[in-house]
Amino acid sequence: MAKVKATDVDFNNLSFDYMDLPYRYQAYWKDGKWQDAGLVEESDVCISEGSTALHYGQSDFEGLKAYRTKDGTIQLFRPDQNAVRMQHSCERLLMPQVPTDMFVDAVKQVVKANADFVPPYGNGATLYIRPVMWGVGGVIGVHPADEYLFRIFVMPVGNYFKGGLTPTNFTTSEYDRAAHKGTGQSKVGGNYAASLMPGEQAHQHGFSDCVYLDPINHQKIEEVGSANFFGITKDDKFVTPKSPSILPSITKYSLLYLAEHELGMETEQGDVYIDDLDRFKEAGACGTAAVISPIGGLEHNGKLHVFYSETEVGPVTRKLYDLLTGIQFGDVKGPEGWVVKV
Ligand code: PLP
Ligand code: COI
Repeated sequence: MAKVKATDVDFNNLSFDYMDLPYRYQAYWKDGKWQDAGLVEESDVCISEGSTALHYGQSDFEGLKAYRTKDGTIQLFRPDQNAVRMQHSCERLLMPQVPTDMFVDAVKQVVKANADFVPPYGNGATLYIRPVMWGVGGVIGVHPADEYLFRIFVMPVGNYFKGGLTPTNFTTSEYDRAAHKGTGQSKVGGNYAASLMPGEQAHQHGFSDCVYLDPINHQKIEEVGSANFFGITKDDKFVTPKSPSILPSITKYSLLYLAEHELGMETEQGDVYIDDLDRFKEAGACGTAAVISPIGGLEHNGKLHVFYSETEVGPVTRKLYDLLTGIQFGDVKGPEGWVVKV
């Protein structure tokens, strides 16, 4: 694949697509330690056909972003939290952990090396950062690999869901993405493989994505395939599902904090019953890629439940969006340690 030049990128019309940028970070785990760590140019990787990532899904990843501020500097949002979540994912899949300092330093190296690709301030575009780890080396029995490859690659992106701050509709899925004591809390490749067919079915029916229900009774909302769910109740409470099989979203925890401490709202992590959507006046999907994507309507059993509006973002969702993105792009001072300069 040909490398992209920064001068060829239309930063005002970015979608969420892969691009082969000049530099990525790579480290190799062998003989019980990380070695050969540093920036490389080659985007293709050469690994054994017996790699556990390829057969048995011993593969996990992260997603975070670099933001261009008004004065032209570049900053990250809570990268230490991504490092910690990846450590948990690695623990679940018996993979070696990347220490937080090494993770954050590696992220900074890749962003700096590709700094020309961090979109200009002003239209919400960002540099998406994808850390990923694979079990590599020849293995055929079902057991963990001896060797691992850790990579971080980046690319400029725009909206994940086409609407941006304009609401889009979602539908529930009859499938589950993860079991309660499975790997739902970990950011592992297998969860996303399981979400491909339900996600595709949702797209084919004109929805942005699907919302998964609890894998036990299919009564409670879990999350969207690529983001957590939140609702704003009629008395202005920020509510988000609590479940052992959803990904602990860094954006969601940030919003819980901001809603309570900056906006003075009550917050709740609890059961969100699919048959009780009338309690919400607004709803949305939140995540690094999704940012805050308002949910216009949610279809379930053939009926579309509209929250605030199918065309206009609700006022509370907008307030949360302005606060979160204000911090991420450096216009608003956030809590200590949330923003890390590159
Ligand atoms: N849920 C799933 C399944 C995701 O893939 C993501 C994206 O990372 C999220 C939630 C949101 O998590 P975060 O806010 O940490 O990006
Ligand atoms: C993210 O928001 O970073 C994600 O990982 C979601 C999706 C692109 C898989």
